Amino acid sequence: MLADSFGRIATDLRISLTDRCNLRCSYCMPAEGLDWLPGPLLLTDDEVIRLARIGVERLGITEIRFTGGEPLLRRGLPTIIARTARLRPRPEISLTTNAIGLARLAEPLHAAGLDRINVSLDTLQPAVFKTLSKRDRLADVLAGLAAATAAGIAPVKVNSVLMRGINDGEAASLLRYCLAHGYQLRFIEQMPLDAQHGWRRENMVTADEILAALSPEFSLTPDEPAERGAAPAEIFLVDGGPARVGVIGSVTRPFCGACDRVRLTADGQVRNCLFAREESDLRGPMRSGATDGELAALWLRAVAAKLPGHGIDDPGFLQPARPMSAIGG
Ligand code: 5AD
Ligand code: SF4
Repeated sequence: MLADSFGRIATDLRISLTDRCNLRCSYCMPAEGLDWLPGPLLLTDDEVIRLARIGVERLGITEIRFTGGEPLLRRGLPTIIARTARLRPRPEISLTTNAIGLARLAEPLHAAGLDRINVSLDTLQPAVFKTLSKRDRLADVLAGLAAATAAGIAPVKVNSVLMRGINDGEAASLLRYCLAHGYQLRFIEQMPLDAQHGWRRENMVTADEILAALSPEFSLTPDEPAERGAAPAEIFLVDGGPARVGVIGSVTRPFCGACDRVRLTADGQVRNCLFAREESDLRGPMRSGATDGELAALWLRAVAAKLPGHGIDDPGFLQPARPMSAIGG
């Protein structure tokens, strides 16, 4: 098992399949984009599947989420998902995506074995979408969301990051839209993961502010399931339920103590935390002939070294060298 020295066990593997993206959300990437990882450094489909198999067969991984950058840009995605679905015990398979291209891909991805999906959607106004992501693609995102539901992917979750002065007035309208379409909305506090290092704590819209913004229009009551487990979202019943909304207070209500995640970057580095400052290379050893057992041992060692928390509030906090787009959500 992938245990660390604080008693946590990682069972949820997030694999970034590319660091590229077709949007430029300001909390993630500068408008001009970034220097993408060179192709030869990226794990091939076979390498991704081999590491996923080692995770599932030897290390207790029960859930695999594909992320990016934008994972729909990875050409082999349906095949990667189909091959992941053949691993035993079969992991739960999910995707975090901006949904551009999902209108076309939802059906094949679901057929390949995709169980669940999280779509990033921060605004319902085309002009704000363009300001925020530097691309005029809101219609594609909404079409992608609808296609996910039509294809039978369930649940369809929506992630929203609110930013002061940009889209912080849209909390209620986002919730109304998601309720009307049957999407499960979760607001996420903005974290210091942007490549431009533009995050300022005072600009962050906090979980408390999000709840305050929703309260004039919705009655929210905590829906703490018997087991919150490692799910970071605090869930609220909307107007008595059954509809729900989640708030992920990554910064003001950290959940590091219950974290069950481990990450693999598109170039084959294990990261034991979003905010880790160190990574463990699996690609190099894999390409020089390491056995499954040797790779599993390196992975175990990487997770064992996991720190207790992200330390955003520590005076000495340093952002990780890699931006979100090169780590994966
Ligand atoms: N803070 C919070 N959430 C972020 N995401 C991307 N960057 C940040 C950030 N700096 C979200 C995206 C997506 C998921 C991968 O994480 O909106 O839903
Ligand atoms: Fe792309 Fe996601 Fe980063 Fe937005 S947050 S630029 S959609 S990788």
